[in-house]
Amino acid sequence: MRHSTLRQLEVFSTIARLGSFTRAAEELFLTQPTISMQIRKLTDAVGVPLFEQVGKKMFLTEAGRELNRTCRAIFTELERFEMYVADLKGLATGSLRLSVVTTAKYFIPRLLGSFCQLHPGIDVALKVSNRERILERLSENEDDLYILGQPPEGLDAEAEPFLENPLVVLAPADHALAGERQIPLERLAREPFLLRESGSGTRIATERLFAAHGLKLNVRMELGSNEAIKQAIIGGLGVSVLSRHTLTMEAPAGEITVLDVEGFPIERHWYVVYPSGKQLSVVARAFLAHLRSASR
Ligand code: PGA
Repeated sequence: MRHSTLRQLEVFSTIARLGSFTRAAEELFLTQPTISMQIRKLTDAVGVPLFEQVGKKMFLTEAGRELNRTCRAIFTELERFEMYVADLKGLATGSLRLSVVTTAKYFIPRLLGSFCQLHPGIDVALKVSNRERILERLSENEDDLYILGQPPEGLDAEAEPFLENPLVVLAPADHALAGERQIPLERLAREPFLLRESGSGTRIATERLFAAHGLKLNVRMELGSNEAIKQAIIGGLGVSVLSRHTLTMEAPAGEITVLDVEGFPIERHWYVVYPSGKQLSVVARAFLAHLRSASR
């Protein structure tokens, strides 16, 4: 049995499936004498007959049926192995297109760094834009995965939460409310407010909280980025609500403080999103797994 070849097993299982030497020969593009010879060799190796002819019909013997089960198991395992190798090859040379909302730029590059260390052959394209623009890309199916601060509404998409994304109230360190506890939201509403541009997820979440309490923001200025807002806070232009992530890097030490306001932090999560039914690439699935393990 050891010297039987995979080819012989393939011929055997094709005959077993089709119930005919002739049809098996056709399917495998082999001549009938070749098929018969392969089966003769296999039968010799096994030592007992594999087929029996009753009238015009051909049946598997008991041993033939057992060998057929064994063949199925072997071929299933081989297929599984082939898929595994295809995955490995994909991971060795694939590419990943990622679109993330602006605030995710504070932590996604680090996660990409550890991912690329594991899979050095992968090319990564990272697009950073505000929520509105990322949602447009999602609906156009332009990238493999998208990172958003809240699941898309009205789009057929899978959204999986991973890391936490609390929004906090930021003020200059010497602000009159610094150090106070449980500042009422109405009090905050009177402060000059620095607001992100329209289309920003941070802005939407902030406006929702104020609207839910029947309050309006006292908007002093609209700015197009978290960095610009932080500089404006330091410059004494007002207070703002931003993701705590914006403080992890380049946070000018001692110049900005987090105010303790009722209803804050706004507890949010980051979501990794892709269109429902999208066939994710091997690389995209690997990155998804990487995000999951990062948030554990
Ligand atoms: P933004 O999105 O960068 O567009 O504000 C972040 C978020 O939704 O939390």
